[in-house]
Parts: sequence; C-alpha cells; structure tokens
Amino acid sequence: MDIQNLKPSRDHCEPIYLQLYRRYCEAIAAGKLKPGDRVPSVRSLASELNLARGTVEAAYQMLVGEGYFVARGAAGTVVSPQLAKLAGATRPRIAAHRAPNASSPQGAPGEALPFQLGLPALDAFPRKTWARLAGRNLRALEAMAMTYPDPAGYGALRRSIATYLGIARGIDCTPEQVFVTAGYHGALELARRVVLQDGDTGWYEDPGYVLARRFLLQSGLRLEPVPVDDQGLDVVRGMQRAPDARFAVVTPTHQSPMGMAMSLPRRLELLEWARSNRAWIVEDDYDSEFRYHGRPLPALKSLDRHGRVLYTGTFSKVLLPGLRLAYLVVPESQMARTRAQVDYLPGPGSILPQATVADFMEQGHFARHLRKMRLLYAERRAYLVAALVSELGERIEVQPQAGGIHVLARLGAGQDDRALTAAAQARGLGLQALGDWRVGRADRGGLLMGFTNFATPEMALAAVRHLRAVMDAR
Ligand SMILES: Cc1ncc(COP(=O)(O)O)c(C=O)c1O
Repeated sequence: MDIQNLKPSRDHCEPIYLQLYRRYCEAIAAGKLKPGDRVPSVRSLASELNLARGTVEAAYQMLVGEGYFVARGAAGTVVSPQLAKLAGATRPRIAAHRAPNASSPQGAPGEALPFQLGLPALDAFPRKTWARLAGRNLRALEAMAMTYPDPAGYGALRRSIATYLGIARGIDCTPEQVFVTAGYHGALELARRVVLQDGDTGWYEDPGYVLARRFLLQSGLRLEPVPVDDQGLDVVRGMQRAPDARFAVVTPTHQSPMGMAMSLPRRLELLEWARSNRAWIVEDDYDSEFRYHGRPLPALKSLDRHGRVLYTGTFSKVLLPGLRLAYLVVPESQMARTRAQVDYLPGPGSILPQATVADFMEQGHFARHLRKMRLLYAERRAYLVAALVSELGERIEVQPQAGGIHVLARLGAGQDDRALTAAAQARGLGLQALGDWRVGRADRGGLLMGFTNFATPEMALAAVRHLRAVMDAR
C-alpha cells in the first residue's frame, strides 16, 4: 500500500496520532493491509510522512494494544495474523478519541461469566506464592494476629500501601494517613462519616460507576449527575448544576466506564473549585495500574496542595475482589477524625489476609505480578477486540482505549443497549449496558465487556459468536 495514503491532515480537528491510527484500521478493514503484512518502522514512517516519532509511536501503541498489530522486536511490526484466523474480516468502524474502561456490578457472587466486568484474570493469580506467604503467616500466628485487629488496618500493610503510592502514583502520604477498608464501599463509608453530612449534595460522573452511585444515594447523600466529555468530568457544568455541592466523586485516571483520563486543566479546575468552596474530592483510582501505552498518569491526589482530596484504591483488580481489601488516604487535617471514626466501623476484618498482602508487596511479588498482568491483559484485550472486529465489525464501534480491564463497544444509533444486554445476560453472558451506568439521556448505547478471563483467542471468539447469535435473534 502507498504510505502517502496514511498521511494525516494538519487541518483536521482530530489529533494526528488518532488520524494515523484510524487510517491503519481502515486500510486493514479494506484489505489494503493483510494479516501478516509488515508495516514500516516508527522511525521510517515518521521520516516518510514528516511526523514526530512520538506521534507515530502513540498510534502504533494503540494498534498493538488493540490487537491490530503485533510487535515482533527486531523482526519488525506486522498486521496481526490473528485477524486472518478470526476470518470473515468485516469492516471495523472506529470511534473518535474517547476510551473506555473498568468494571462494575460484579454479577452474582462466585460468578465469572464470559465478558464479566471487574474481575482480574483468575487463572493468572499467583497461587503458589500466595499460598506460601499465607501459610507462613498462618503457621507463625503471632500474638498480633490472635488479638483484636486495628480497625484502621494492619500496620505493615498501611506502610506498604504508603510506599507503593509514593512510587507508583506520586502520592506523598504517611502510613498514618492510610486506612485499610472492606472494599471500596468501606472507603466511601469512611469518607462519608469523616467529611460529609446527611443530605449533602455531591457531583457524580455521568456515566459513572453504578454500584457506588447506589451506595451513596442509599447512605443519605444527594448526587448531581455531571456529564463527562473527552477531558473527563465537566467542572463548569457541575458548578452550574449544583453550585452548593459539598463533594465530587471522580475517576480521573481512567474514567469509569468511558475510559478517558481527566485533562490537566480540568484537574486544576476541580482542585480550585474544591479549595475555594471548601468542598471535598473523592478520587477513585480503581484500575490505574493497567495502562497499555504511555506511562500511567499520576493521581489527582499528587496535585492536591490544599488537602481537599480523599484518595481511594482497591486490591480487587490488582489481586482479587474476594479479598475485599481497599484503602482510603485522607489529608493530614482529617487524620485524627478518621482515626476516631474507624473505631465505630467493622474495619477490614482479619489480619491474616492483610499480612499476606503486605508480604506480597514488600517482597516485590506485587510489582512483578502487575508487570505480568499488564502484558497478559494487553494480549487478552487484543483477543476480544480482534473477535469483535471480525464477528461484529459492522454493527459496533470498538472505542480506542489506553488501559483498564474492559472494552466499550458502541452500538449504532437507535439500538437499545439495555434490551440487548438483558437478552445476553439471560443467555449466560456477563456484559453490561452503558445505558445502565447513565442517568442522563445518551446519544448512543454501548456494551461494556470484560476480557481478562479470555485465556485464548478461541474463548473470546466463542463468546463473541454467542453474543452475535443473541443479536441475530432480536
Ligand atoms: C469504578 C470502580 N471503583 C471501585 C471499584 C472497586 O470496588 P471494590 O473495592 O469494592 O471491589 C470498582 C470495582 O469494580 C469500580 O469499577
């Protein structure tokens, strides 16, 4: 194919790397580039088209991340041969530069259905290491683990989390600012008791994480849905809709479920709003560890100069949701109040799993596990995207995305995502409707699909064919 056909236009409103990405997708869909075809190196394409290398690299990283390309080191980069295996290549329609992500209503307890959201790869959990560390803790059964646990969390785990957040998320905090909780709900409940009052109004992203929205509403808070656009939560709209809001709950690193990162201007705007209104920001950093191109963005909390951000993280995506371990990092000014509040709450439970997570982190297994999972998830995501493109290419748009553990596929205008997912769920599929995560009206529906447990391309293909059968039957 003629390389000049890939040339992006400088007059186009879309960023150059996305134009390039899109041109490649279109060339593959049109058969101008075939599975196995070698593509030019980043360096030669950049010089040929007179583009910055970083621009070409960003497009290639997306194409690799989404399964269109396979990077073979010294042997160069090729169009994924997998696309041929998946056959019938229909034309993929690629959406504009928003990305999806994340996880959600977790399905019935104990369930791991095809497309189930929010689960890590259960088959890749490092059972042996875990069993060894857990066994050692059980055998030692020190007096510490035999007495009443500290409801603020096990000391060694609080220290490990503080160290990890400093290195990985740019957050400067002491272990005393870290409170281990029973899942994200536990962190929200603690934050609510420390800084909020019954009936307080807060901004909530629309679309946004549906389970936490329900939890906050039933805890007696009022939520004002604030739309998100490609820069994240629209702060100006928030100020117009609920100027008296006392708090905002946001997913700035990887918006749940759309997947874009909150832009720096928006972050600064939000922080300034919180400072000048003496409002609180709850930052939900649930899956920032999984980013497939570029470096993970620092947490919003890392920019918090006035102590207005309460930061939450969870071990559900990076280890196992069954652990029910998450954490809340409070500003120094709220440490004493939080310390006092945890005494009225059940806390995160038994010391033993907390001690095992602490050992896992301290001994370097955590960092290794994350590195492994990043590669594995990039691969598994590519299985799903390739299957979606080959089986449903004309009916959906797979949105480009930078990270996370789910894929968002948009449906055509007028298609009812809720009815479709209800039919799919009745047939044993665990996907969800974007419409169920929204409060306001949407232009188009979408399907939220987990991919972490598709261990082979065939598994992804089988699940997507199953979904296609559900669509055909409607
Ligand atoms: C947006 C979001 N935040 C937080 C969480 C973490 O919840 P938990 O710690 O209760 O598993 C999830 C899990 O699915 C999520 O999707």
